[in-house]
Amino acid sequence: MSLERKPFSLVDLQAREVHYLRLSVTDRCNYRCTYCMPAEGVDVVPRAELLTFDEIEHLTRVFVGLGVRKVRMTGGEPMVRRGITDLVGQLARIPGLEDLAMTTNGHLLASLAEPLRAAGLARLNVSLDTLNPQRFAQIARRDGLADVLRGLDAARAAGFASIKLNTVVMRGVNDDELGQLADFAAEHGFVARFIESMPIGAGASLTPESFVSAADMRARLAQTHELAQDLLHGHPGGGPARYWLARPRSGGPVARIGFISAISERFCQLCNRVRLSSTGTLRECLSLAGELSLRDLLRAGASDEAIAAAIATALNTKVDGHRFDAAVATPDNMSAIGG
Ligand code: 5AD
Ligand code: SF4
Repeated sequence: MSLERKPFSLVDLQAREVHYLRLSVTDRCNYRCTYCMPAEGVDVVPRAELLTFDEIEHLTRVFVGLGVRKVRMTGGEPMVRRGITDLVGQLARIPGLEDLAMTTNGHLLASLAEPLRAAGLARLNVSLDTLNPQRFAQIARRDGLADVLRGLDAARAAGFASIKLNTVVMRGVNDDELGQLADFAAEHGFVARFIESMPIGAGASLTPESFVSAADMRARLAQTHELAQDLLHGHPGGGPARYWLARPRSGGPVARIGFISAISERFCQLCNRVRLSSTGTLRECLSLAGELSLRDLLRAGASDEAIAAAIATALNTKVDGHRFDAAVATPDNMSAIGG
């Protein structure tokens, strides 16, 4: 592969082409998941520092001009941002943007699934760490399982193109539930995703005691399910998940499971994404704090060309692999990054 960069196309120094933008629309959240936040919550950004909807739309248009085709809205919890349905509508109308998705905890999904789908949201990832209500309350530090399950029903009824369930797997917390979570996903037509916990922010204090590698997850699952690598769709979309199929030995539908193993199997060579924080800071790698404020450029009146050039330059410094292990690792919580 050539390392030559096309002018104004987001190809970084490892020749990884960036066509996926993760857009954090708020750092606020109605949950306090143990792997993401400290119990007391976090200081949230003052509202004036957040990008406005028009600024988010403006910057997204610049990214689409640079070749971004897919946008995923994240948080905190994106659905707590007031007017989120309007923002989805604004983004869905951007020509050239082919795929608009959202990652949510599902707490407000029951009432928002239908309007969000109607506004143009195509796909959803919903966090689901357990099917046990008490455990749920321990992990999220708030009751919510019933709301999330109602939200999932509403999302199915609203006809999303794909619904994935995200499970952060933790030893001694929910690692005995992988089979049930896989079966739940298969029965409802969802894709399951089992995620290695990452040492980010509050998540750092959970590891290594609670860390479960993707290989361990599969070994655990193999006690009750027949596993096979999904050779046809093992690695769709260039994302980090590796997909497997799991057939319950006791019978029942086959689950499709993506394993996201940032730690045990570095996937950085395949990284196709950048992140924009709710305050407009570009984050080139999940594991490192970003520096370039696109909000400040925008508010200083920079042209789209100047903003695009600044993004392209920042991407030149996108690292070749994550730095979770290094002293420079970010102290940010995942709620400020958006996963
Ligand atoms: N490690 C791995 N995944 C995390 N998430 C949040 N914190 C962590 C962590 N420390 C994931 C959750 C959620 C998404 C927004 O980020 O699964 O679905
Ligand atoms: Fe909120 Fe998601 Fe963090 Fe949980 S993981 S506290 S739902 S932002």
